[in-house]
Amino acid sequence: MTALIDKFSREVRYVRISVTDRCDFRCVYCMSEEMTFLPRAQVLSLEELYQVARAFTELGVEKIRLTGGEPLVRQGIDKLVGDIGQLDGLRDFAMTTNGAGLRKHARALREGGLTRLNVSIDSLDPERFRQLTRTGSLEKVVDGIHAAQDAGFDRIKLNAVVLKGRNDDEVLDLVEFARREKLDISFIEEMPLGDVSDHVRGETFFSSDDVQQAIESRYPLLASAESTLGPSRYFRMADSDSRVGFISPHSHNFCSTCNRVRVTVEGRLLLCLGNEHSVDLRATLRRYPGELEPLKAQIIDAMDLKPERHHFTNDGDVQVVRFMNMTGG
Ligand code: GTP
Ligand code: 5AD
Ligand code: SF4
Repeated sequence: MTALIDKFSREVRYVRISVTDRCDFRCVYCMSEEMTFLPRAQVLSLEELYQVARAFTELGVEKIRLTGGEPLVRQGIDKLVGDIGQLDGLRDFAMTTNGAGLRKHARALREGGLTRLNVSIDSLDPERFRQLTRTGSLEKVVDGIHAAQDAGFDRIKLNAVVLKGRNDDEVLDLVEFARREKLDISFIEEMPLGDVSDHVRGETFFSSDDVQQAIESRYPLLASAESTLGPSRYFRMADSDSRVGFISPHSHNFCSTCNRVRVTVEGRLLLCLGNEHSVDLRATLRRYPGELEPLKAQIIDAMDLKPERHHFTNDGDVQVVRFMNMTGG
């Protein structure tokens, strides 16, 4: 049973922990090219990140997802995974990654107890992939996915943010890639987090309903009741094990069933992705080193601050100043 229940009777069972704000990619919708990163003293240590994970599992959280930035660029990530992987009560231990570091890390992550991987991939065209990520290599990411499969990860999910005029023509190709490689795939509506200088968000919005229509022109989608405790609405195809999901914060709001909170790498507990309410866990971690009770009490109290919903719109305004790399989505 979770001890974490908010004012709207939603039970928090899922925590997303960002382990770094750094990334080796610079995706156009996520970061500006000249992004600066946090000084080390402001960042939670590996031990502090572990304490956060421990506190949440003791409070009944059963799903932890490590995010970034890019989690695999954090020094010591394999050890952190191994430590968190041993916590009692954890049923789903996942990571969202850009995939470029998987050739190097997949085996250690699997041995450390990670159960699931989500890999972001917005294009299957190498040149376009480079343009969208600014620094990423498609070949390296696909190789990383294969390395993860070889290491024993079996339900890898692709995440594709669909942008009008940039990759909306690749929806079917991405579904076909997922089917061929035996992967699940989620299509995501872009969210207005952070002012990304040379990218005008309102101009690239592409609705999940249009993505769904494009897919159904070739593969009828059958609604699925399965849930990962995440925001995706999942569908199946008759002739494949791959699932197709839609994460539609604009067109199909999912806040009434929200079950999650986030911790940024500075130790800010964010009660909602789309709002700035936060609680400073780092201060408590550093005031009471090694003690879990003050941290747990602070987390329980914070539940009252969880807002009912986000108020994102897709008109191009920046409604949240925080960049996605601080939160990992
Ligand atoms: P699964 O556990 O595989 O279902 O993954 P997930 O969807 O929970 O996590 P993932 O890291 O793959 O997130 C995919 C997208 O969903 C990202 O763009 C996130 O920003 C977005 N997302 C995840 N949780 C929330 C949320 O609570 N609110 C909003 N608005 N978006 C979210
Ligand atoms: N809107 C929607 N999704 C985003 N992601 C990063 N920035 C945004 C944004 N502004 C996605 C990444 C990754 C996941 C963690 O969030 O592509 O798949
Ligand atoms: Fe939960 Fe906020 Fe995401 Fe809505 S936007 S699902 S309230 S975290």
